Amino acid sequence: MKLQHLVSTTDLTREQAIAILDTAIEMSKVNQREIKKLPVLRGKTVVNLFYEDSTRTRVSFEVAEKRLSADVVNVSAKGSSVSKGESLKDTVQTLAAISADIVVMRHGSSGAAQYLAESGWFEGAVINAGDGTHEHPTQALLDAYTLRSRIFGDKTGTGLDGLNIAIVGDIAHSRVARSNLHLLKTLGAKVHLIGPPTLLPKALAVQATTSHFNFDEAIEEIKFDAVMMLRIQSERMNAAFFPSESEYSKFWGLTKSRFTRIGDALVMHPGPMNRGLEIESIAADSPNSTVLEQVKNGVSTRMSVLYHLNAAEGDLS
Ligand code: CP
Repeated sequence: MKLQHLVSTTDLTREQAIAILDTAIEMSKVNQREIKKLPVLRGKTVVNLFYEDSTRTRVSFEVAEKRLSADVVNVSAKGSSVSKGESLKDTVQTLAAISADIVVMRHGSSGAAQYLAESGWFEGAVINAGDGTHEHPTQALLDAYTLRSRIFGDKTGTGLDGLNIAIVGDIAHSRVARSNLHLLKTLGAKVHLIGPPTLLPKALAVQATTSHFNFDEAIEEIKFDAVMMLRIQSERMNAAFFPSESEYSKFWGLTKSRFTRIGDALVMHPGPMNRGLEIESIAADSPNSTVLEQVKNGVSTRMSVLYHLNAAEGDLS
């Protein structure tokens, strides 16, 4: 199975998504070896082009690329000619001129990755590392990998059929929520969206199995296999979407009381976390929390995505 680009989880069929998760298991075995290297991207140049801040995605892509033997170049808006006002077109044509094979891009504008993939400015592969409030497909893939691994172990060839997954909080501004909604459904899970009316867009609610404004009622009604808490994205808010942080935490946060009532459900968060706002430390640091596992699995999953690109060559031996 080969991909030209990865812009959205809607690009993936169930078979393609499962193939990426299965290959990620093989990559996780490579990551346990003393020499964590494969020749899949030997001779290829990968540019990580980050117009927005990142810790997890940027670092794990860089580690994944290096473990696949790529030549890696990091470009961020600060410290590059982007800060002098250079356009996306001129930046990407510069990268094409130095024969980059793959661009991994994070951008503040929704649709930027699709635009680049279709622009003709750059003939290599484009991976969306988060575009505005639109999508973050590799985050959803690493979340699916984490869920499958925690619940089904190293079983290959399977989706997430029948699992009840809650996505809770600032859904309106979350590219993680959009990518997860599509991918979890593709893999057969039931997706339940929970959040304040101001942060739960109707266009997404109608795509979910259920949607709720009341977190406590949802916990009463549904036995969740996992509860995915979202970061409040204050930097994307141009208005007041809830009365105060303490009100938000009281009604939509994963508090100690709600953590007790979700039983043995997994606690997920893409990071970075606002502790005490959308999630309390008792949940974030509990044995049911997968927060650091998600980061660890991000390396194997991103190695798998890179392996499945047309631009990659070589095998897994
Ligand atoms: N989950 C995520 O995208 O985190 P970063 O912003 O640190 O990359």
